[in-house]
Amino acid sequence: MTIFVTGGAGYIGSHTVIKLVENGYDVVVADNFSNSKKEAVKRTRELAGKDFPLYEIDICNERMLSKIFTIHDIDCVIHFAGLKAVGESVEKPLEYYKNNLNSTIALLSAMKSHNINNIIFSSSATVYRPDNKMPLTEDSLTGGCTNPYGWTKFMCEQIITDTVNATGRLTAVVLRYFNPIGAHESGRIGEDPQDTPNNIMPYIAQTAVGRREFLSVFGDDWDTVDGTGVRDYLHVVDLAEGHVAAIKYATENPNGTSIFNLGTGKGVSVLELVTAFEEATGVSVPRKITQRRPGDIATCYTATGKAKELLGWETKKTLKEACADTWNWQKNNPNGYV
Ligand code: NAD
Ligand code: UD1
Repeated sequence: MTIFVTGGAGYIGSHTVIKLVENGYDVVVADNFSNSKKEAVKRTRELAGKDFPLYEIDICNERMLSKIFTIHDIDCVIHFAGLKAVGESVEKPLEYYKNNLNSTIALLSAMKSHNINNIIFSSSATVYRPDNKMPLTEDSLTGGCTNPYGWTKFMCEQIITDTVNATGRLTAVVLRYFNPIGAHESGRIGEDPQDTPNNIMPYIAQTAVGRREFLSVFGDDWDTVDGTGVRDYLHVVDLAEGHVAAIKYATENPNGTSIFNLGTGKGVSVLELVTAFEEATGVSVPRKITQRRPGDIATCYTATGKAKELLGWETKKTLKEACADTWNWQKNNPNGYV
């Protein structure tokens, strides 16, 4: 079975490609390197032990997609490609809507022309309304997004669902990720933000390695265990395995759209995360309590029942392992792939 992986040079895509090859799938990767480096693909090939095809294209280009689908007999698409920085999406909404919506539309359209009937889509916990009760289930309310990035994920889910309903032969699995952290155990690939990290784990790692002076803890007056924000941090390698489970599910349950939350089911506060990192690595992380970040919520974690029952998937790696693997990547690559 051949899987077409858009955004396969990125953080989650590269880890997933390795898992796909390990599980016997053939892989074709496409990326425009707008937020990644070719070195990531080189290392992914080394770790996978396989020289899979790579196309440097913009996924919004349906003509190029069509060419690739003529060359390769694709059974399933995993659509990771997208812009993902929340703050940037507020400043440049049109770039976000253009890239994330057009890529999804071009992909679905090319898939239709070439009779490719399975798609796994990278969505996010950000599609849930901020006022839901925790833990979030797949039936929790969506919408009310606080930024354009979130809306692009919400809209892409709708575009995919409408297309599935219209064609009657498409199978879509929408995966709503919680907070992926960690890196491949080799320390060869990992998360490599191009600018100042928005997400907490790369910020912690870059502070530990001396690239940042201190971590700003965004508020200690939230209604949580220690006043700092609580999130559901899952190891990226577990998340990668979630995609393998999703492909299996799609092939065994054809036609229709299925939605799954992928997370650990456990909430961890910012201070708990910093402590776990320090304990796992022996490296201290200087920190200062600062103002709350606009748009943040106190707590966000998932219920895990649906993914366990239907995908047969749950996280296996611990928070400590995720911290140790993040550090292994960061200390061996203090400046990322550069
Ligand atoms: P990433 O930026 O590391 O990877 C995305 C990849 O897509 C990059 O390599 C980028 O160059 C590529 N890309 C972007 N637009 C493209 C286009 N038009 N054509 C071709 N390639 C393009 O991000 P990631 O963390 O690996 O995230 C993967 C997906 O998962 C994204 O859709 C993201 O929104 C979603 N997601 C990520 C998180 C997270 O915390 N990392 C959480 C929830 C959802
Ligand atoms: C972010 C995105 C969300 C996306 C999710 C997973 C924002 C506003 N939201 O959410 O759309 O789905 O990642 O990729 O960016 N924190 C600090 N200091 C920092 C950075 C973060 O204290 O320097 C805190 C935050 O306040 C939060 C926690 O750490 O409590 C996690 O933050 P982050 O990694 O940005 O993830 P999310 O807020 O869950």
